[in-house]
Amino acid sequence: MIQLTDVYKTFTVKDKRTRAKKQVEAVKGLSLTVKPGEIYGLLGPNGAGKSTTLRMIAGLMQPNQGRIQVCGLDTVEQPEKARAKVGYLSTDLNVYGRFTPRELLRIFGEFQGLDAKVAERRGMYLMEKLQLDDFADVKMEGFSSGQKQKVSIARALLHDPKVVIFDEPTTGLDVLTAKTVLDLLRVMRAEGRTVIVSTHVMPMVEEICDRVGIIFDGLLYGDASPKQILDDWGVKTLDEVFFELAARSAAEV
Ligand SMILES: Nc1ncnc2c1ncn2[C@@H]1O[C@H](COP(=O)(O)OP(=O)(O)OP(=O)(O)O)[C@@H](O)[C@H]1O
Ligand SMILES: [Mg+2]
Repeated sequence: MIQLTDVYKTFTVKDKRTRAKKQVEAVKGLSLTVKPGEIYGLLGPNGAGKSTTLRMIAGLMQPNQGRIQVCGLDTVEQPEKARAKVGYLSTDLNVYGRFTPRELLRIFGEFQGLDAKVAERRGMYLMEKLQLDDFADVKMEGFSSGQKQKVSIARALLHDPKVVIFDEPTTGLDVLTAKTVLDLLRVMRAEGRTVIVSTHVMPMVEEICDRVGIIFDGLLYGDASPKQILDDWGVKTLDEVFFELAARSAAEV
């Protein structure tokens, strides 16, 4: 279970040239709930606040205001326990080229205090599901972005997390690789995990998300099934909801 209650996040950024400080309100009063066995899609244009929201749920960043709970654990009051429940995939494709996927997963397993045999078994299971098993013992330095993404996914899920937080898991992947990732997310849902993904990829949303929230300028819209959102807005595609929100925002300025 993921629960966000009236969450705010503001960054202070400094203009290097004028040295003036200004506040960027990345998230402005966000509330949402994702239940076990559900895939929630967080949509929104660049800079909308998706990654900030996911980083806060993953416990990598604290909200300025509001409350975030994962599996009933407050991410600020019980950060370590909460973080242990979470499998987080960032958009950063950093893998350690010197290692093979198997080696990397072994190191991560040790780092997380997992039993070596259990971690090896789970790592192989995930690599098979991701169709990466043929590359388990190949050094990652020459890996394609899709292969790197698969390794990052296996790493995020190695400790068997109850809550799965994936930031743009299919961006930059071809349709076949994307399908492999989506199939794995379906398995995660069927296993009763709580899944939240951010994406720009509309077909993915319609295909796998049970519920969708559109984040625009730090605020959440929708928070319903993709079909319900289309009906509510009287549009045919979710892109049109973006355009509508952008037009409203421009009209306000
Ligand atoms: N560490 C940070 N320091 C300062 N500003 C930040 C930081 N992280 C995010 N922001 C700002 O917060 C806003 C939201 O950023 P965020 O990365 O959450 O957007 P996003 O929806 O993930 O966008 P994208 O689709 O481009 O990944 C942006 O204006 C961004 O510049
Ligand atoms: Mg982002």
